[in-house]
Amino acid sequence: MTRETWATRLGFILAAVGSAVGLGNIWRFPWQTAENGGSAFLVVYLGIVLLVGVPGLLGEFVIGRRAKKSPVGALRDLSGSKAWGVVGAFSVVTGISLLSFYSVVGGWIIRYLLESGAAVVGGSPAYFTNPGQYFGGVSAGVDAALYHLLFLGLTALIVFAGVRKGIELGTKIMMPAVLVLLAGLAAWAATQPNAAAGYAFFLRFDPSVITENFFAILGPAAGQALFTLSLGAGTMITYSSYLDEDRSLPFDGSAIAVLNTSVGVITGLVVFPLLFSQGVNPTETGTGPGALFVGLAGAFSQLPAGTLIATAFFAVVTLAALSSSISMLEIPVAFLVDEYGVSRKRAVTGMTALVAVTGTVCAFNPSIFGFVAGPLVNVLLTAGLAAFLLFVGWVMGREALEEFAAGAGEFSKSLGTPWLFAVGVVLPLFLVFTLLTHFGVDTTIGFWPTVGVAVVASAAAFLGLRQPNSVV
Ligand code: ALA
Repeated sequence: MTRETWATRLGFILAAVGSAVGLGNIWRFPWQTAENGGSAFLVVYLGIVLLVGVPGLLGEFVIGRRAKKSPVGALRDLSGSKAWGVVGAFSVVTGISLLSFYSVVGGWIIRYLLESGAAVVGGSPAYFTNPGQYFGGVSAGVDAALYHLLFLGLTALIVFAGVRKGIELGTKIMMPAVLVLLAGLAAWAATQPNAAAGYAFFLRFDPSVITENFFAILGPAAGQALFTLSLGAGTMITYSSYLDEDRSLPFDGSAIAVLNTSVGVITGLVVFPLLFSQGVNPTETGTGPGALFVGLAGAFSQLPAGTLIATAFFAVVTLAALSSSISMLEIPVAFLVDEYGVSRKRAVTGMTALVAVTGTVCAFNPSIFGFVAGPLVNVLLTAGLAAFLLFVGWVMGREALEEFAAGAGEFSKSLGTPWLFAVGVVLPLFLVFTLLTHFGVDTTIGFWPTVGVAVVASAAAFLGLRQPNSVV
């Protein structure tokens, strides 16, 4: 059976943007920004997206496009070692873990969408009356499990239809719809009273927050950057394995990061003016995954056309969440198809059944949900990306450079060598640091000296490679 490929380059870019744009941008980003100092968090986060996210994305792309296999087969075949295949197998675990909690949150969103949509014709959504109590009642238990199954079922249907007719077609429809709806909501939010206070919270840059809290912001900002770009789980390895022509990966990677970041920022331009216009201060709505639901639902309930706006908002979130969840399901599905020759339909059915169970556990148990959505996923993504990048830098080496350069323009090609050293040395060190912060280790003292050593080592290695017979 021939392996499927993307029909068009735009299809690949939109599918990857669809994977990146999701609950991470809309649900997690405003909540993380509010908890970590507003604009200061935004600046650190943007820096990490640029310096870690884009090179990291390219790292996963070169693995996938070179091997044309899902992470397990890709790492094994490119290295010739089964041990690397085992490292690749972690991506299957990560994909299933991600989807298990993501599908529960997707279920909450679908519930809010249906609730709001039904109220457009008359009445008001039930969550308007007491947003906090409502969320508390539906976020765990039987309700949460049923909506999780609904969301998972929709995800499975799209993946079932295949790479071109499911994922590519689906994201080609969903992504433009998300952008248009979101831009409309941002324009509308600008007209709300006191919107300026929301912009100020989000965008006014206060350097002292960074200088005083850099290390406290670093871990969450890195976790957010990885999560939102779908890095570390092998999603981007899997998607790029369906590329059949050599177009510029640096261009595609940058376009994906820019579009994804724009959606995050535009979401901030919707959420913060909206919250401030209704006197809801996001730093005071409490912390945790429900904060945004409660804060926003409260704001929607005060607005003249609140039900309609809420429907549009939750429609955006549902589409964005689906375009991401399909990429999570595709990781274990591609693994079964590539490694065991299982048909796509059987692979989707089997993996969906598994996540139906693991997600239901998350839906019933908020502690397990919190553990999976927080520490487990943070650690798996950070460790996963560090492993992929070490693989690119130390196992693929020049092969990675060739793949980086294939189809790229002259300028991009000239970035190949610094990129390889970044992904081989600097970024893994950085990721290990953030991993340690996840384990509560105080990395404050060792951070800058290690960065210094890494940069000097990279520069030395870079100069060493610049020999007359060098390919770069
Ligand atoms: N990248 C996906 C998101 O941001 C997981 O939701």
